[in-house]
Amino acid sequence: MYRFLLILNFLLLTFSSAIPQGFQFIAMSDSRGSNNGVNEPVLSAIAEHIVKNQKDARFVVFAGDMVAGNRFDPDLTYSQLQHWKKVMSPIYNNPNMIWPKVWVTVGNHEVQHRDDEDNFRKLFPDVFMNGPEDEKGLTYSFDYENSHFVFVTSDRWHYGDVSDTTDDKPDRHYIKHLDWLEKDLQEARSRGNKHIFVISHEPAFPIGGHLRDGLPNLGSNIQSITDLSKHWYLNQRNRFWDILSKYKVTAYINGHEHSYGRQSVNGVYQINAGSCGAPLYEHNPKYGDNPAQKRPGQELIYNDAVPYYKALNYNFGPNKNSQASKDFVGYKAFNYVLFNVFDNHIDATTYGGFPKEGSITEMGTEIKVIDRFKIEN
Ligand SMILES: [Fe+2]
Repeated sequence: MYRFLLILNFLLLTFSSAIPQGFQFIAMSDSRGSNNGVNEPVLSAIAEHIVKNQKDARFVVFAGDMVAGNRFDPDLTYSQLQHWKKVMSPIYNNPNMIWPKVWVTVGNHEVQHRDDEDNFRKLFPDVFMNGPEDEKGLTYSFDYENSHFVFVTSDRWHYGDVSDTTDDKPDRHYIKHLDWLEKDLQEARSRGNKHIFVISHEPAFPIGGHLRDGLPNLGSNIQSITDLSKHWYLNQRNRFWDILSKYKVTAYINGHEHSYGRQSVNGVYQINAGSCGAPLYEHNPKYGDNPAQKRPGQELIYNDAVPYYKALNYNFGPNKNSQASKDFVGYKAFNYVLFNVFDNHIDATTYGGFPKEGSITEMGTEIKVIDRFKIEN
């Protein structure tokens, strides 16, 4: 018997050491809605699904637009964010996850008033304060296991002098501190990290309802574009993506677009992990779509989108997908993405629930696997 146990023990040790041990984390985004600023039924369902099914996940990254927010009443935004934390309590109380359980940054909805950024810092103090001076608590980074995580805000209440009370114009949709980001990625590589994940709110390559903004921020009517500042945003986006490519970032995780989508552009995955409740969008219109049948959640018809596709160098036309990359996979579904991170690759699994017929805010199906993909180093 003793001999049998010894052999069994040996076999178990051998077997377990033969299984590569990774770690898991989860990406979520965009949960705003009408229950005190939150889509409570959808966000609750997702939070509960995670706690029940993803027992090995160590933490969540949340890419902004947690709440609806308010342009005139920062106290209301504050109370909505407090409510959001309550709705997320299954995750905050989950003993399987580690501090701080949810890593956050702002979306455009959390920075609509001059007091909002400070309020956000008060509500979410458990992040690393190692970002640029004017973006402490919004932009930060850390290493975990074999990976580096960088949160960079792509939405500020105001990018200029915040003490200038004569300028209340919101100025959003770009990543200001690219030099800080490049240095951070360079140092992360020199420490030997196997993977780098960059998390922010705005899409670098818009996939649906935000073709006209996101990081390229081309504006509402590109056919009559004369404003060079719009080209400035596109150039800034290009510089940003060049930096991610240069340091071989594994994935850029974003929200703002209320649907699921993943694609690889110049060797870097853009993974759009919204929505966790925000009204679902259609993806970019395709050649052959009937312009008379604009669907709920669709921003533009195909003909109006074409000038943007040209400016963004998208894959569009007959039998094309109207996205930045041919390998785009996307679903109009509430979703979260589970990353299983090993040294040489990452297994990603996306869980989603499809909307009720005729609704873009209510879940009509069970949450189940809607996509699986592998990212090789
Ligand atoms: Fe947004």
